[in-house]
Amino acid sequence: MKILVTGGTGFIGSHTCVELLGSGYEVVIVDNLLNSKASVLDRVAAVSGKRPVLVKADVRTRETLRGIFTEHKVDAVIHFAGLKSVGESVQKPLQYYDNNIGSTLALCQVMAEFDVFKLVFSSSATVYGVPASVPVSEDFPLKATNPYGRSKLINEEILRDLFVSDERWHIAMLRYFNPVGAHESGMIGEDPSGVPNNLMPYLSQVAAGKLSVLSVYGNDWPTPDGTGVRDYVHVSDLANGHKKALEKLGQAAGVFTYNLGTERGYSVLEMIAAFERATGQPVPYRIVGRREGDIAICYAKASLAKAELGWVAARGLDEMCSDLWRWQQYSDKSVQ
Ligand code: NAD
Ligand code: WQD
Repeated sequence: MKILVTGGTGFIGSHTCVELLGSGYEVVIVDNLLNSKASVLDRVAAVSGKRPVLVKADVRTRETLRGIFTEHKVDAVIHFAGLKSVGESVQKPLQYYDNNIGSTLALCQVMAEFDVFKLVFSSSATVYGVPASVPVSEDFPLKATNPYGRSKLINEEILRDLFVSDERWHIAMLRYFNPVGAHESGMIGEDPSGVPNNLMPYLSQVAAGKLSVLSVYGNDWPTPDGTGVRDYVHVSDLANGHKKALEKLGQAAGVFTYNLGTERGYSVLEMIAAFERATGQPVPYRIVGRREGDIAICYAKASLAKAELGWVAARGLDEMCSDLWRWQQYSDKSVQ
């Protein structure tokens, strides 16, 4: 089976390529390298023993996609490519809508031209907006609170419409909670350009001495210790979820939506403590005001993914933190 992975040199994409290659799939990546580097493929090859093909291109370029589908007999597509910074999306909404929706439109059109109807799409827990309660299940009301989140919601609606129009489509929309960690080898991980926005990459750069102190955004949230609670899920578990989703799509047409999370929420202070425990590194922090747009608490109900995909998040906090730290140390000395 040959899988086209858009955004395959990025954080979740590169881990998914490792998972797919390790399970005998062939992988072709299309990525414009806007937020990733081609050099990750040397490391993907080192850990999996196989090297995916990379086509450096924008997914919105239909002619390039046609060239890929003509050259490769693609069986299914995993669509990771997109922009993902919430704050940036507020500043640059047109860029976000153009990229995140335009890429899906171009991809689905060209897939249909080539009779490829199996698609796994990267959605996000952000589509639940401010959930009324936890755990959050797939049937909760959907509401985006920023252009990034709206781009995910619109994509989900487009994909539902697509299936209504043509029942040959097999589509899985995976709503990730908070992806963290790195490949257990320590050779592949998240490589944010500039100062990270997300908690775990920031925290690990503080531990490495690259940033001086972690700002904890508020200790007055209605949570047990007052800091925000999230469902952190190991990126290798997410990668495995994509493989399971592909297997599911092999069996049935339809549009399927799954939460991918651990069903367990941890606070910011718990994450700092877990990181310090797993790595032995101190993480200096200070409490500051709340970050605009944040929510108090969010964690998944993931029983649908368990029942229908046979997927559960196998890795705990310890592995998330120690794998992330291994990658931090490796990338500081080896990755350009
Ligand atoms: P990432 O930025 O590491 O990877 C995305 C990749 O897509 C990058 O390599 C980038 O160069 C590429 N890309 C972007 N636009 C492109 C285009 N038009 N054409 C070709 N390539 C393009 O991000 P990630 O964390 O791996 O996220 C992957 C997907 O998962 C995204 O769609 C993101 O919105 C979604 N997601 C991420 C998170 C998270 O916290 N990381 C959470 C939920 C959902
Ligand atoms: C986690 C917790 C912060 C940084 C974001 C997107 C979401 C999804 C995943 C793509 C919160 C606190 C953070 C810091 C802190 N991405 N924090 N100091 O906001 O849950 O989700 O990434 O789909 O759409 O919104 O993740 O890692 O930014 O924050 O105290 O320097 O850590 O307030 O409670 P978030 P995060």
